[in-house]
Amino acid sequence: MAAISGFPALADLRGRDLLSSADLNAAQTKALLDLAADLKAGRQRIDLQGRTLGLIFSKASTRTRVSFTVAMARLGGQTIDLNPQVSQVGRGEPVADTARVLSRYVDALAIRTFAQSELEEYAHWASIPVINALTDLEHPCQALADYLTLKEAFGDLSGLTLSYVGDGNNVAHSLLLCGALLGVNVRIGCPEGYEPDAAVLERARELGAANGAAVEVLHEPVAAVRGAHALYTDVWASMGQEEEKAARERDFAGWCLDETLIAEADSRAIVLHCLPAYRGLEISAGAIEGPSSRVFDQAENRLHAQQALLAALLDTP
Ligand code: CP
Ligand code: NVA
Repeated sequence: MAAISGFPALADLRGRDLLSSADLNAAQTKALLDLAADLKAGRQRIDLQGRTLGLIFSKASTRTRVSFTVAMARLGGQTIDLNPQVSQVGRGEPVADTARVLSRYVDALAIRTFAQSELEEYAHWASIPVINALTDLEHPCQALADYLTLKEAFGDLSGLTLSYVGDGNNVAHSLLLCGALLGVNVRIGCPEGYEPDAAVLERARELGAANGAAVEVLHEPVAAVRGAHALYTDVWASMGQEEEKAARERDFAGWCLDETLIAEADSRAIVLHCLPAYRGLEISAGAIEGPSSRVFDQAENRLHAQQALLAALLDTP
């Protein structure tokens, strides 16, 4: 018997991959948030009966690695750390071989890497679910936790506006796609030259049109945040862009998410950041520590959102 009861929209996710926020449809995205809320409140208990998640992380991580590990433990499963530096992956064993071998041992893989194409190659060769734990293109698990946090603050998500100010990066891409599916208007405010990927924007606009959400890109910070219900930012230089850090700090001057910008948003607006954060650069200390901040609830919600996702992908018919 299926372990998850009361969520018919999740049945089609059994055995599937999550490589992009757009791999989910609107009903599945909403159901994952509802299941995450139920798990958080203790209204659902799910037993994955000892199943194993492999973690292949080619980049640093605190939240994603730990929240996946704890999520599996809470679901009655376990994780195994497959750090590329100490596995044969680091010595150049082909992804095609690694993915097929690991599929014989573990029940799912969560992968953090640089190129989306490498993640897709794992998914192509693996016969088990592959989860995007962050690539240069997307961070879909983060977006689920972010919209769960927004839902906790406002109840109904549809018609809300989330303003992301900063680099049009992986986090921005998943916020665009996931927000569009949930009927949340997503505004990206960024300096010229730091816009989100054009193909992601186009897909988000299509999904938004189908779900009653608008997608906008603005190049002026106050206009970007005016009246918004959530203000969100992320680092200006992502992992892999360390050499661009100084140039980016110059280009992003005037784009710090601070109390002045918060004053332009809706009076109930919440402040979000995926973390890790650099106070005094993309966000002020006052914004991250102030009364509007929900960043630590947001970080906690990684755990609940990923429990819901793992339960759906690893559920048995
Ligand atoms: N937000 C996030 O993904 O954090 P980590 O890099 O610590 O996993
Ligand atoms: N955009 C950031 C997110 C870190 C969680 C990065 O890719 O480094």
